[in-house]
Amino acid sequence: MVPPAGARLVKIPGSSVPLLFLLLLLPLLFAAPQEQQRSGSPGPPVVLIPGDLGNQLEAKLDKPSVVHYVCSKKTDSYFTLWLNLELLIPVIIDCWIDNIRLIYNRTSKTTYSPDGVDVKVPGFGQTFSLEFLDPSKRSVGTYFYTLVQNLVDWGYQRDEDVRGAPYDWRKAPNENEEYFVALRKMIELMYEQYGGPVVLIAHSMGNMYMLYFLNHQSQDWKDKYIKDYVSLGAPWGGVAKTLRVLESGDNNRIPVISSLKIRDQQRSAVSTNWLLPYNYTWPPNKVLVRTPTANYTLQDYQKFYKDINFEDGWLMRQQTEPLVYQMIPPGVRIHCLYGTGVETPDSFYYDAFPDKEPKITYSDGDGTVNLQSALQCQKWVEMQKQEVLLFKLPGKEHIEMLSNITTISYVKKVIFGL
Ligand SMILES: *[C@@H]1O[C@H](CO)[C@@H](O)[C@H](O)[C@H]1NC(C)=O
Ligand SMILES: *[C@@H]1O[C@H](CO)[C@@H](O)[C@H](O)[C@H]1NC(C)=O
Ligand SMILES: *[C@@H]1O[C@H](CO)[C@@H](O)[C@H](O)[C@H]1NC(C)=O
Ligand SMILES: *[C@@H]1O[C@H](CO)[C@@H](O)[C@H](O)[C@H]1NC(C)=O
Repeated sequence: MVPPAGARLVKIPGSSVPLLFLLLLLPLLFAAPQEQQRSGSPGPPVVLIPGDLGNQLEAKLDKPSVVHYVCSKKTDSYFTLWLNLELLIPVIIDCWIDNIRLIYNRTSKTTYSPDGVDVKVPGFGQTFSLEFLDPSKRSVGTYFYTLVQNLVDWGYQRDEDVRGAPYDWRKAPNENEEYFVALRKMIELMYEQYGGPVVLIAHSMGNMYMLYFLNHQSQDWKDKYIKDYVSLGAPWGGVAKTLRVLESGDNNRIPVISSLKIRDQQRSAVSTNWLLPYNYTWPPNKVLVRTPTANYTLQDYQKFYKDINFEDGWLMRQQTEPLVYQMIPPGVRIHCLYGTGVETPDSFYYDAFPDKEPKITYSDGDGTVNLQSALQCQKWVEMQKQEVLLFKLPGKEHIEMLSNITTISYVKKVIFGL
């Protein structure tokens, strides 16, 4: 095993594996990758767009100071910042948070990494960075692997006619403009190379990214280059769970990671604030967070941010809210696949606010995305001339749906027009 470059300590307690397992909400174990022979005829080129936390990130350090003596100040090269199990164990996690967090500049309204931390997204145009979040291909970090392997079994080739479009998911589209330029170029190139329009397959927040992208292309461009858009578990109207993440952090019930510690990282990600519930999905008087002294609806975000002592968050929210607020239809044929029947956090009650774990009320959804948010897709049926197809995945959890046979069969149908 390569020593973790982000930290000097190399010991990995056995407990770090179940810990990460839960941290990622990736409860599935898959068989090790096997190379299969190519067979059958490939269909249209495919581009995969991951969600929040959904691709690898790398970092290189040359820091003036560190938060703890065990933290590395300088590294010779890039190392894996996400996902790297060794960096999430107690104490070392403090180094990790200080490397992955973003700092908000209130003047430029943009974020930047702490001094001496250089973060990059590996593997644009390739699939590895979203097939496995952990480069050691541990099953805990398996993400798009099953879907990609199925494409390969149907005759596709990794990094050729099936490619990934990873991005810096800590940020919202307004700070990722070069990403969209690169994505557009890649789609045009794949069109030329494989002789036809592409199929986009996005998961979770990747769909918000794709909507933003498609809203910024001309109809002629979309007609020429996009065959179909398969949207999986899209949080079109936001996600109630993000409120809890901002308030008290979310360690996903892993006792060794303090929620309050991880909260600092989770808050600093602009995308977390972008995903708060939107008023075109939730009723204006719905209490999302209740405390002994206040009830917060989505009309109370400014007060909410003030009360949790995170006023930068309010600036981030105001700045990102308009990005897809209009819910302008994508203007391409879209297939909205959404999970139902899984308990999904809906609102939170804090008896000590905000530094204690809340009582959670649940409603329908895929465990992460609330059903009413996924169903925003429905309103496009009347708004665009291209087809809008909704497909319910009963009992499918947010991450699990990516690998489930029902989803894979649907994708196969779209690709081969069966
Ligand atoms: C914040 O942004 C302003 C305007 O772009 C810039 O002048 C200033 O140096 C930035 N501050 C930091 C700490 O980077
Ligand atoms: C919803 O939020 C937007 C943006 O903050 C605001 O302009 C609009 O008035 C709100 N609409 C309703 C019905 O509350
Ligand atoms: C919050 O709402 C609940 C239920 O509607 C109500 O009983 C309570 O008094 C409200 N609390 C505050 C502080 O307004
Ligand atoms: C797919 O979902 C079905 C129904 O929810 C479930 O029974 C099955 O085990 C899942 N298959 C895989 C491979 O996860």
